[in-house]
Amino acid sequence: MATLLCLIAVFLAGTTIRGAVGQEDGFLSIDCGLDAADSGYKDTKTGIVYVSDGPYVDGGENHRVAADQESGFGRPEKTVRSFPSGERNCYALPTVAGAKYLVRVVTVYGNYDGKNSSSSTLQFDLYLGVNYWDTVHADASDVYEALFVARASWAPVCLVKTGSGVPFVSRVDLRLLGSELYPGLTANQSMNLYIRHNMGSNIYIIKYRDDRYDRFWWQGNSNPLWKNISTSSAVAVNSNFAEPLAVMQTAVEGIRTNTTVEISWESKTASEFIVAVHFADFQNSQLRQFNISISNRLGRDNYSPPYLATAGLMGWTGWSSDGKYDISLEATAASKLPPILNAVEAYIPIDHANPMTLPKDFDIIMSIKLEYRIKKNWTGDPCFPAAWDGVKCSNPSANTSRIISLDLSNSNLHGTISSNFTLFTALEYFFDSDRDTCNKSIHDVNPSQQKSKANRSAILAMSVVVPVMAIVVLVLACLIWRQKRKNNISADVPPRESEPDIVPASRKNYGDTLQTVENRRFTYKDLEKITNKFSQFIGQGGFGLVYYGRLEDDTEVAVKMRSELSSHGLDEFLAEVQSLTKVHHRNLVSFVGYCWEKDHLALVYEYMSQGTLYDHLRGNNGVRETLSWRTRVRVVVEAAQGIDYLHKGCSPPIIHRDVKTQNILLGQNLQAKIADFGLCKTYLSDTQTHISVAPAGSAGYMDPEYYHTGRLTESSDIYNFGVVLLEIVTGESPMLPGLGHIVQRVKKKIDAGNISLVADARLRGAYDVSSMWKVVDIALLCTADIGAQRPTMAAVVVQLKESLALEEARADSGFKSTGATSDTAISMSEFGPLAR
Ligand SMILES: *[C@@H]1O[C@H](CO)[C@@H](O)[C@H](O)[C@H]1NC(C)=O
Ligand SMILES: *[C@@H]1O[C@H](CO)[C@@H](O)[C@H](O)[C@H]1NC(C)=O
Ligand SMILES: *[C@@H]1O[C@H](CO)[C@@H](O)[C@H](O)[C@H]1NC(C)=O
Ligand SMILES: *[C@@H]1O[C@H](CO)[C@@H](O)[C@H](O)[C@H]1NC(C)=O
Ligand SMILES: *[C@@H]1O[C@H](CO)[C@@H](O)[C@H](O)[C@H]1NC(C)=O
Ligand SMILES: *[C@@H]1O[C@H](CO)[C@@H](O)[C@H](O)[C@H]1NC(C)=O
Ligand SMILES: *[C@@H]1O[C@H](CO)[C@@H](O)[C@H](O)[C@H]1NC(C)=O
Ligand SMILES: *[C@@H]1O[C@H](CO)[C@@H](O)[C@H](O)[C@H]1NC(C)=O
Ligand SMILES: *[C@@H]1O[C@H](CO)[C@@H](O)[C@H](O)[C@H]1NC(C)=O
Repeated sequence: MATLLCLIAVFLAGTTIRGAVGQEDGFLSIDCGLDAADSGYKDTKTGIVYVSDGPYVDGGENHRVAADQESGFGRPEKTVRSFPSGERNCYALPTVAGAKYLVRVVTVYGNYDGKNSSSSTLQFDLYLGVNYWDTVHADASDVYEALFVARASWAPVCLVKTGSGVPFVSRVDLRLLGSELYPGLTANQSMNLYIRHNMGSNIYIIKYRDDRYDRFWWQGNSNPLWKNISTSSAVAVNSNFAEPLAVMQTAVEGIRTNTTVEISWESKTASEFIVAVHFADFQNSQLRQFNISISNRLGRDNYSPPYLATAGLMGWTGWSSDGKYDISLEATAASKLPPILNAVEAYIPIDHANPMTLPKDFDIIMSIKLEYRIKKNWTGDPCFPAAWDGVKCSNPSANTSRIISLDLSNSNLHGTISSNFTLFTALEYFFDSDRDTCNKSIHDVNPSQQKSKANRSAILAMSVVVPVMAIVVLVLACLIWRQKRKNNISADVPPRESEPDIVPASRKNYGDTLQTVENRRFTYKDLEKITNKFSQFIGQGGFGLVYYGRLEDDTEVAVKMRSELSSHGLDEFLAEVQSLTKVHHRNLVSFVGYCWEKDHLALVYEYMSQGTLYDHLRGNNGVRETLSWRTRVRVVVEAAQGIDYLHKGCSPPIIHRDVKTQNILLGQNLQAKIADFGLCKTYLSDTQTHISVAPAGSAGYMDPEYYHTGRLTESSDIYNFGVVLLEIVTGESPMLPGLGHIVQRVKKKIDAGNISLVADARLRGAYDVSSMWKVVDIALLCTADIGAQRPTMAAVVVQLKESLALEEARADSGFKSTGATSDTAISMSEFGPLAR
């Protein structure tokens, strides 16, 4: 069973298969309708291994042929899969793009449905991808074979209803052909087998192992004007056709030298044929020479077959007005022997006019389908004849369509977001969730991130989300983290021996639906290069040291290396990476990628050139000018929007847990973004509205309610944000030794009724008083002791925007308040009391 699973995995990987003993490379033999438990049996005659069709097809039902007929069929034909629902059902066969294949569909009705159907009541069509291949009749020929060049990593073979009964199939064979085979076979020319005859043989059918590629060579007709000849000598192989020796060792020749050997047929459906004729002479003592004509068209005059070697000729019949086609061999005057014919093939060209999905996009969506095991009635070509459910394609007037939109709502996904998504270069929208959140089009993404095309795929990776999985991973990370705490294992875990450490643990709990994060992954070497060997140190965060770096395309990045002493463990690292991957907003610091090697953990973010709000308020790190009130308010509006997005923009909500001025970063134009979200802080479920973890956060920002209860909710972020607001008002630290906490200090001063005592002296009165009051008012509401009394972040954003508007009106009116004490006093008396 293990071998079998292995085998299936190999099939799925789209690689060629080296099967059980003796089976050729590149054989995939599917016994349709076979129970998965029986998959992998070996055909006793040929040694070919048959697998069940489960991994290759989604719909359909399994059946057995009628008991009274069973004995007449080989094992693969004893079961069938039928497709009562859906107009079009397809098998997806793993292929290598550009390689040549033979595909064979065997349909043996065997009255599997007990309806005694006949060819008049049971018919359906076969399609090779988007292209019509043949029509199956219940009681007619039961073998359909085609040669094609694979366009992508998957070749769809479709059974399409035509209104006469339920399509079914017994067996599907895929055989990889040598690249030299059938020179006329090209990517835009597939061929449907019409006849393949072995002349002069008394064997009904020759196939594998005589034919290395498992082509079927049926016994040709007999004709009173021909006689059978054969040899037991070896006949040299022809690399363009690789005819089996057993086929080439028999032939027919005319009964007299001047007898024309002619093969003719009539077709009302096909308007042209591709023909291959195969010759090998068994004697070289006398001249055998003849003219070959194929429907009076392509010919070869004065042709002599090689001695004990094979020669194959291939050509087109051309279109025939009466539907009659023939191959005729006529001896020349000089010939001493009649014409000879060893084998003949005729194919109907498969029309390739139908548009199809760009092969690359097809491969990607198939990867996604497989990776997430999407059972969404996704079958055949993604765009044609109709787009898959949830898929939108570019203008189909072009012959190859691109996938431009993907909606995975309600698809019951499993797995993390995969970098496979980033491969859709034409994707414009991605709808990921069954909630109305995190539904972002690429155009919603921060435009500054869109400047380089190369970046675009990375952005997409960040803006797409598969929430179900993200929850699982975050919850898991939480569980691991909590477990660690319980076990009293220090959070500063020593570097792990190797990265897979955490992965098997995850797998153990969640099966293989859980995978590690897919995002831009850097090697330590990359980081060395990006940071010029960590030459520019730019700060220290909770995670570790931060270095400046530049990517290949000159994008500036901040590389956060995990230090050994960091209190962040691997689990938190994983959690952070997960949530970074999950969210994207213009007021959240963009995540570029990560490094996860033996002894090195690192996170790579966009570089925020102007440092932290903390630095600006404190005058640290070379900041000389204090921020104006207007800038301060704008910065907190933006920061509030970022936090609001964490709380409400994503499902489940993310609690930042460490909102502080050090985590509000400023970019080139002092635009603000929230950093360091991504610790373990996701709600476990909708019903459980908080998670209990040991109190965390930074000194001076501790939410008293959280401190007492250990219940972490969004309102803790609100509290912390209130502290941030008081900092921009006062310019002071939350904690001043001997003076108490900022909330108490501000409250005291406000009780004294004087806003100028509260406002940062460095502003030198340059602020709109009502704007300032409004911020203080919001801050005090945010820092209410009881979480339930605090406003939501959305309400905070609205209020702060009003404050900003007041300040902007002041600044834009050109009113420069220098001393402004009297104004302040007036304002204070007007607004002060209302502030509380
Ligand atoms: C697949 O979807 C198509 C339309 O999207 C529908 O007509 C067909 O019945 C579905 N097939 C199955 C098996 O659900
Ligand atoms: C189907 O054919 C079998 C014999 O081949 C016969 O016994 C049976 O009655 C037939 N059933 C129907 C529904 O015609
Ligand atoms: C088919 O492809 C070949 C090259 O592989 C090209 O020369 C030929 O023009 C194509 N034919 C059609 C009908 O597109
Ligand atoms: C001669 O070969 C033909 C196939 O080309 C076959 O049908 C026939 O049975 C053979 N005759 C004898 C006597 O073997
Ligand atoms: C073929 O040759 C024979 C003599 O070998 C002759 O009788 C016959 O007429 C010739 N047939 C044709 C069509 O030339
Ligand atoms: C065979 O072809 C040659 C060269 O075209 C021609 O001269 C000759 O008449 C042809 N023979 C027959 C029997 O058609
Ligand atoms: C894409 O999906 C396939 C199939 O699930 C998986 O094997 C492969 O690793 C993925 N590729 C990338 C780049 O994520
Ligand atoms: C594109 O499709 C049209 C029919 O839709 C067909 O005529 C044309 O040959 C196709 N072109 C190529 C390059 O396949
Ligand atoms: C997602 O957004 C698109 C447009 O931006 C909209 O058409 C679609 O209905 C939204 N989907 C959900 C589930 O909200």
